[in-house]
Amino acid sequence: MEATLTALLAKASAELAALPTRADFEAAKARFVGPHGELTAAMKQMGAVPKDQRPALGRLINETKAQLQAQLDAALARIESAEIAARLGPAIDPTLPPPDPGPGTYHPLTLVREEMCRILRKAGFTVVEGPEVETEYYCFDALNTPADHPARDAQDTFYFPGKARFASVTKKVPEEKYLLRTHTSSVQIRTMLKGEPPIRIVSPGRVYRRDTSDATHSANFHQIECLYVDRNVTVRDLKALLDYIFASLLGKDTKTRFRPHYFGYTEPSFEVDLSARHLPKVNKDWIEIGGCGLVDPAVFEGVGYDPAVWTGYAFGMGLERLAMLMYGIDDIRYFYQNDLRFLKQFA
Ligand code: DAH
Repeated sequence: MEATLTALLAKASAELAALPTRADFEAAKARFVGPHGELTAAMKQMGAVPKDQRPALGRLINETKAQLQAQLDAALARIESAEIAARLGPAIDPTLPPPDPGPGTYHPLTLVREEMCRILRKAGFTVVEGPEVETEYYCFDALNTPADHPARDAQDTFYFPGKARFASVTKKVPEEKYLLRTHTSSVQIRTMLKGEPPIRIVSPGRVYRRDTSDATHSANFHQIECLYVDRNVTVRDLKALLDYIFASLLGKDTKTRFRPHYFGYTEPSFEVDLSARHLPKVNKDWIEIGGCGLVDPAVFEGVGYDPAVWTGYAFGMGLERLAMLMYGIDDIRYFYQNDLRFLKQFA
């Protein structure tokens, strides 16, 4: 009997140490300690043992049982930690720097902005930036856009609450409101107030309007603004520059045409169309791209330039629209979703 129990322990210790899965474990447990298992079978032989030997044998059986249980517990613990390790995957060291994601790529709007600035620098323009928080004076009044103009309506402009303060954005009049600029044209005024003509600046940047987002509208988007102030500037100079820009950007077959329009800060004013047959995904002869004109004498007077001496042109256009035309993108929302499947196409 003693020999049977010792052999049982030895067999169990060898088998349990090698069990790979929980199912194997359950089967082995039944075989050793279950109601039809080997230990139970040994216990059943107690009846055949002489009475005086029973207490010693009983102790031995209890010890064997305890040892078997300890071996089973150890085997189950080993299998459980193997299961957890399998679920966790290979060990990682969280203190290591992350794996190198490789070089990033330029956003398509950055590509178009930089290309426009590069083209304009070649024509003598300097890149300047203006604040995205503006005041009504720079965004509207100084641009000859009076208080009753629809562009100033709270319906399409983001105003800040009266008590908002922006130390870095200078106000012209203490009581005027702060707002998110609706166009980059405000940079024209800030530039002219800072220095004397001649001036040749290009200013790209973010602008804001209360628009409901859809395939062609976004409450914030980007524009690029140009201002040229010198003596004897004519519409012909303006047209020549726009022709040069678009031929450089979209190919020499690209033509521009002007349609009369109204902007408070230019006179005459035009909307600019591009010939579009050669552009991807555009099924039209002409497509509108921006606004332009000769700087209105009232704007010059406002910034202290003598309109009898100085003349100039200005234009502004949306960068998203340009990028969409160049790359055949048919939904403006792609620019802001940070989807790598989209962005990687511009790598
Ligand atoms: N600011 C105009 C807009 O946001 C675009 C524009 C039109 C800019 C005429 C100009 C200009 O500089 O002369 O729609």
